[in-house]
Amino acid sequence: MTDVENDVNETLKISYISKIAFCKYSSVYPYSNEKLNVLFKNLDLNDKDVLTVAGSGDHAFYSYNNGANNVDLFDVNLLAKYYYYLRTWIIKYYNSFYFDTINKFKNYNEFSRYFGILFNLVNPTSEDEEKAHEYWKLLYEKCSIKWKNNGLGFFLRSKLFRGDTERINSISDLSVIKDKLANNYSDFYNCDITGDQTGIDKVYDVIFLSNIFEYVDDEEIKRLKYNIYRLLKDDGYIVLSNVRENLTQINENFLSDVFSFEKLPIILNLSGSFINSGVVLTKKRRWR
Ligand SMILES: C[S@@+](CC[C@H](N)C(=O)[O-])C[C@H]1O[C@@H](n2cnc3c(N)ncnc32)[C@H](O)[C@@H]1O
Repeated sequence: MTDVENDVNETLKISYISKIAFCKYSSVYPYSNEKLNVLFKNLDLNDKDVLTVAGSGDHAFYSYNNGANNVDLFDVNLLAKYYYYLRTWIIKYYNSFYFDTINKFKNYNEFSRYFGILFNLVNPTSEDEEKAHEYWKLLYEKCSIKWKNNGLGFFLRSKLFRGDTERINSISDLSVIKDKLANNYSDFYNCDITGDQTGIDKVYDVIFLSNIFEYVDDEEIKRLKYNIYRLLKDDGYIVLSNVRENLTQINENFLSDVFSFEKLPIILNLSGSFINSGVVLTKKRRWR
């Protein structure tokens, strides 16, 4: 069995647990639940080399749209990598930031065909893209056998996507992103950013961690702090973007020996609380 076949089989096993856990085969975020227009308005991405958690891919696309030179991605969930390629094809071939919602179609059959047509348009230009293409075509076939006419569309809605949150972000002019995607190659690291070995061997001007601090335990946070310090250029910055709550005072105290903080403007989050749209960390002294 090839790696791609194995990934498709594991994808089809996605269960309720994979919707709440963050692991190699988990459900994916179809779109970001953060107010990215506000966040990016307050950041300078011009000509920056960016490392971002993949999630829905929105942070990567917003980075390119705001002038980033190159964007690499990491995620503990391998399916976020496949989803990232799906997003790039929807941008490139359907000229749309997101895929059309099921509401635009008469039924799941038409919704599935919308993806089937897309996969026939794709012409991969790298080994990773080739693998992603194989993955989606095989998943499409297997879903058509398993769920007949409902096929892939049904699987995406009911299994692969985490709660279909509202689409609160959008980019209408996709020309900058298309140009960057055509001329750049993104490395994707399927790793735990709190692990001993991330496999990431470059340094970056900007690093985005979306909500990861909210989920780590006492041991993980120590390695996370070391990893992000090491991956950041001396004059670079890290963005901890939030959706649920502000960074806790405990986390702030823990990070403050090596990082300075700048809190970004207050927003109303999805559950109706006022929180900072993000926190920017810069290095204040050398790691000892
Ligand atoms: C934490 S979720 C938050 C979603 C976010 N608010 C958004 O707007 O997309 C983002 C992604 O982080 C990934 N993730 C969580 N913990 C991780 C870790 N320790 N290392 C690498 N990726 C992680 C998840 O798999 C998920 O795809």
